[in-house]
Amino acid sequence: MAHEAGPGPALPEGFLMGASTSAHQIEGNNVSSDWWTLENRPGGFVAEPSGDAADSFHRWPQDMDLLRELGFDAYRFSIEWARIEPRRGMISRAALEHYRAMVRGALERGLTPVVTLHHFTSPQWFSDLGGWAAPEAPDLFADYARTAAEILREGVRYVATINEPNIMALMYALKAHAVEHGWDSVAPGSRAAREGGAAAVDPAALEPDSAVVQALVRAHRAATVVLKAEVPHLRVGWTVANQVYQAEPGAEEATAAYAWLREDVFLEAAREDDWIGVQAYTRHRMDVDGALPPPAGAETTLTGWEVYPQALGEAVRHTARVVGPHVPLIVTENGIATEDDEQRIAYTAAALTSLGEAMNDGVDVRGYLHWSALDNYEWGTYRPTFGLIAVDRTTFVRTPKESARWLGALSRARRLPAPPAPGSAAVLSGR
Ligand code: BGC
Repeated sequence: MAHEAGPGPALPEGFLMGASTSAHQIEGNNVSSDWWTLENRPGGFVAEPSGDAADSFHRWPQDMDLLRELGFDAYRFSIEWARIEPRRGMISRAALEHYRAMVRGALERGLTPVVTLHHFTSPQWFSDLGGWAAPEAPDLFADYARTAAEILREGVRYVATINEPNIMALMYALKAHAVEHGWDSVAPGSRAAREGGAAAVDPAALEPDSAVVQALVRAHRAATVVLKAEVPHLRVGWTVANQVYQAEPGAEEATAAYAWLREDVFLEAAREDDWIGVQAYTRHRMDVDGALPPPAGAETTLTGWEVYPQALGEAVRHTARVVGPHVPLIVTENGIATEDDEQRIAYTAAALTSLGEAMNDGVDVRGYLHWSALDNYEWGTYRPTFGLIAVDRTTFVRTPKESARWLGALSRARRLPAPPAPGSAAVLSGR
């Protein structure tokens, strides 16, 4: 095998090694959510509906068994507000029990659960009120956090309130833009939202609405207060998409201004938190007019992103600079959409090497959770495969890939990968 598990640098004591998922992307039939409505609207813009997804709603014990057998000790998953509160004020006891069983199931297997309360999808009723733009949104979210405390009390230590609030805010800007232009609506987390705009939109022209940004920050703070009061010892944070903005010469000021509402405001809001989740996949080169496409000839992934694994090291360094030295970091997402599993291993090895270098330089990182445990629903399509474990879309049979065994072996050996030898193909290609 091209990449041996060792002898790279040892992982610090207690460092979490595992993988991440989100409910809507793997559970299937999330019928009370706003995304389900969008996917199933006749003539809607979503290419492919999520349908049964990976059927993890029923198969989660198998997913956790696999992760444990592979050698991991942590699993990040999300609980689904739309299942827990399918109608405003109507709490499903069965859904609460389902997620409590998941927490117990993780702990029984020796997997540290890292639980996200909100990963892009909301109950349809919440969206109908205006979603994050509704005046009562922060209070409604805090109420949901109070309900979710019943699940977290089962033994959860790390909870993330909102996944990628910066992408959510951008999505609302796109939604407003879409409404203004009479388009079909743009869904949370869709490619259009992630990329900063559909092809027809000039991303530089869109500015996240600061009222939505502030609502997300307020929702996070309100939920944090509730959670800390309800569940002693819980460590509360949120997870931010790190875009790794790189200013071209002369574009430093414009880039800093561009990055503020799209990233740094959310990092600054975490300065009093117990931890922060770092999510990084690639970089974004910036000139004075906004984001540039990947450099000519650059290798790109199935999502069209530049293969740039050292984004991870740069993201944790940037995050630590903004949040300050007292907030520990956990990498809650990092990965690559590829059909070539060797490429996944090469990318992840280089990403982990850049992470190790940042840790050596003093950045306090407490874990690495790869995106994703499973091939899953990538917000409108099943085509981009991020998974360590393949899932047959018809039989739901799970098949771990070589990358899963490779990363699991590192976890078992409690090591990062050995850095590639100078002059090796991996170094020269930047992978
Ligand atoms: C999101 C995931 C998504 C991944 C890859 C992250 O921004 O949290 O839901 O699947 O990126 O696009």
